[in-house]
Amino acid sequence: MKDKSSEMSLRTLSSGPTDLPRTFVEYFAGIGLFRMGLEAAGWQVVFANDWSAEREQMYKGFFDESYKARDIFSLAAEEIPQATLATCSFPCIDLSLAGKGEGINGKHSGAFWGFYEILEKQGEKAPQIVLLENVTGWLYSNGGQDFCATAKSLNELGYACDVFMLNARSFVPQSRPRLFMVGVKSAGVVDDSPYFTSRSKRLMPTRLKMLMLESENIQWARLDIPEPPPYKNEGFTDSVAERLTQDDPRWWPEPKVEKHLAMMPSAHLEMVKLLACRNEENFRTFFRRRRAAGQRAEVRSDDIAGCLRTAVGGSGKQFLVAAGNGKIRMRTLTAREYARLQGVPDSFPIVAKTERQSLSAFGDAVCVPVVTWIATNVLQPLTERLQAGSEFVPRDEQAPPWQVIWKSA
Ligand SMILES: C[S@@+](CC[C@H](N)C(=O)[O-])C[C@H]1O[C@@H](n2cnc3c(N)ncnc32)[C@H](O)[C@@H]1O
Repeated sequence: MKDKSSEMSLRTLSSGPTDLPRTFVEYFAGIGLFRMGLEAAGWQVVFANDWSAEREQMYKGFFDESYKARDIFSLAAEEIPQATLATCSFPCIDLSLAGKGEGINGKHSGAFWGFYEILEKQGEKAPQIVLLENVTGWLYSNGGQDFCATAKSLNELGYACDVFMLNARSFVPQSRPRLFMVGVKSAGVVDDSPYFTSRSKRLMPTRLKMLMLESENIQWARLDIPEPPPYKNEGFTDSVAERLTQDDPRWWPEPKVEKHLAMMPSAHLEMVKLLACRNEENFRTFFRRRRAAGQRAEVRSDDIAGCLRTAVGGSGKQFLVAAGNGKIRMRTLTAREYARLQGVPDSFPIVAKTERQSLSAFGDAVCVPVVTWIATNVLQPLTERLQAGSEFVPRDEQAPPWQVIWKSA
């Protein structure tokens, strides 16, 4: 006998609107950590681009596939396959607080306009969703004008935007706050403020809230974004630090260790000495920073790493101090430790000519579980809504304030 219930569900499925394939184009792909995070959630890459041959080499090590390293401005819209999503982690140098403040039109971050041009030329064929990622300095660059200019330019292409912050610390032992801007074609306008004020500060820091509320003539979309997992305060010692043998040449010689102990503020030195008295080895991370009083070795008191960065000329590198059983040892973090801090499983081989190359690439990358979380908690419900056809949800005081508001089809 035929099973009527399965017949019914099949009919329901096939009568729905055409499926939105979970496909994406990865711009500014670097070593492909957007890809790694999205693939883990069932998305499939159809095209990737970055101009760095060094990063392409590492990408190939991960995926056994490469992209042809090219300037984004040299890509023709016709050569890019259609997809539902485009990711865009455009260069942060001109937006970051450490940069020279050239902003969204700067030599590096201005590559965003290469992405914009492609979407513009693609017209109707452009992806329905775009996902941008950058540092929090984006909110401050040119007094906030660069951030608003990015959202406004996406509006011009028909995308309404939602923006939120996620810190990798919700997933891995690394503090790495990053902003994510999701642009959706056909989403409607936010009409008032409750949703801005209802989001937690973690998802929406005051500066972001302020810029969105004060921006004029920008179409913001509101998506249903749940609260991310709580922040980690530990995990570096147990799940990240590699156990190098005593005679590994990467451990610094005694005089170098002494020199760095002397560079520590007294409270930091005290903490390291206390850890050294324990019967087990603990690991802590530190940066060398230039302060008015000279160079300082500043150690984190918790068991997580600070934000990994691209090491330019040695600055921005993160170091490790191992203390316990009466000993204090130090070294630079390894490429595998950087990879773990970005959520890359150990099964992915790191293929690079030099350690500097890997550290720089991982320092610039997105954190894999952050991307997977976005795919599951933001993109999945969003594609389901788009798949069901855009519908207008009238404002309802009973509805949760973060409910999506859609334009009528
Ligand atoms: C923030 S990183 C992106 C990292 C990437 N999401 C990852 O997980 O590895 C920015 C990338 O933009 C690339 N880039 C900068 N300017 C470019 C351009 N004009 N065309 C193509 N790629 C460019 C850099 O090589 C760098 O890999």
